[in-house]
Amino acid sequence: MVSDVHIAGVGMTAFGASPERTARDMFAQAAGEAFDDAGIDPDAVEELFYGNFMGEFAEVQGHQGPLMADVVGVSAPSTRIDSACASSGVAVRHGVNRIRGGADVVLVGGSERMKNISTAEGTEALSAAADALWEVKAGVTFPGAYSLMANSYFDEFGGTREDLAHVAVKNHQNALENDLAQFQMAIDVDDVLEAPTVSSPFGLYDCSPMSDGASAALLVSEAFAEEHGLDTDVAITGTGQASDGLALQDRVSIPETPAAVEAGEAAYEDAGITPEDVDVAEVHDCFTIAEVLALESLGFYEPGEAITAAREGETTIDGALPVNLSGGLKAKGHPVGATGGAQISEMTKLLRGDHVNSDAVSDATVGLTHNAGGTVASCAVHVLEVVE
Ligand code: COA
Repeated sequence: MVSDVHIAGVGMTAFGASPERTARDMFAQAAGEAFDDAGIDPDAVEELFYGNFMGEFAEVQGHQGPLMADVVGVSAPSTRIDSACASSGVAVRHGVNRIRGGADVVLVGGSERMKNISTAEGTEALSAAADALWEVKAGVTFPGAYSLMANSYFDEFGGTREDLAHVAVKNHQNALENDLAQFQMAIDVDDVLEAPTVSSPFGLYDCSPMSDGASAALLVSEAFAEEHGLDTDVAITGTGQASDGLALQDRVSIPETPAAVEAGEAAYEDAGITPEDVDVAEVHDCFTIAEVLALESLGFYEPGEAITAAREGETTIDGALPVNLSGGLKAKGHPVGATGGAQISEMTKLLRGDHVNSDAVSDATVGLTHNAGGTVASCAVHVLEVVE
């Protein structure tokens, strides 16, 4: 039996456009908040795992592992993880495994700077997460790749643009009171359907935005939490990660994401739970179709059946399984290397009762986070539970 990994503190910057802020400046803020939240000093940290995807492109800054350790006052080993948009979800998993391997205090998180460059430059930088030989050379961008997945889903299982629009409307609604979200703005289905086309079938509101932001979490062992009398109400009880080929053309089925299936099953088994036990989820809705694919891959719905979940109110704030109460990537924002850590930060607050949307899930004891890289060529899933 593996031990629980307690979350002693979390922090994140507001996501959005802060083109003057460096990745290091934002990570210092997020980590500082996590240290304050936990009541732990940086010198207690035994290792740092840090997610970042496009630092070389956006601010000509590589080698960010030791850079970020220095910035936050940590003198322990520090590693930068690149797993595209799943970078900090994978960083969290490394932290969980390090605590299970015997460490007492590990800092995890990530940071990304995207709004200091143009949308065209950001699109080019992001496409490095696709297959350079077989996709990027043919002109594939991420809005384009996920459009292929959406159209393929419609062909295989049915569904409409309007079904997807409800996902965007729901996530914007959830973000209305979240001051850390990039868009605190209600939209309706007509807004989504009438928005300028980005890549058919997607309009502007089917897409997550480019964002600046950082996230951090302090993970501690059960023994450390007890010894120091830390108030750790939430623990990570399950972790799973899986990979797939980068190129969509090699997938057996375009509108399915087997890496998420595998990562989800591993996380459930690790935590000793089933999908039915999950009360609330934060999933990687980089495009509206991505939320649908996530819900099916994670076992909440059969393939082809999650397309109407938001429309039917099953995943809204008052639904049976509230999804993306933070606003998700769609409305909270998506600074890619920070997103997985932000899901942990938001879920921790939701479960311990100090998130603006906590009241909607006051009985929740089990939360799930799903963080995907590329067209889900990498995926990290975590189960968080309220512990005594
Ligand atoms: N949702 C809602 N509003 C958005 C938005 C989004 N995704 N993206 C931008 N906006 C708004 C901006 O706030 C701005 O509003 P304003 O005029 O009231 O200030 C306006 O739209 C134009 O913003 P801009 O930054 O110029 O957007 P753009 O048209 O250059 O780019 C996208 C929009 C959708 C193409 C771009 O955000 C994008 O490529 N997103 C996908 C990112 C991605 O692929 N991530 C990786 C996922 S795997």
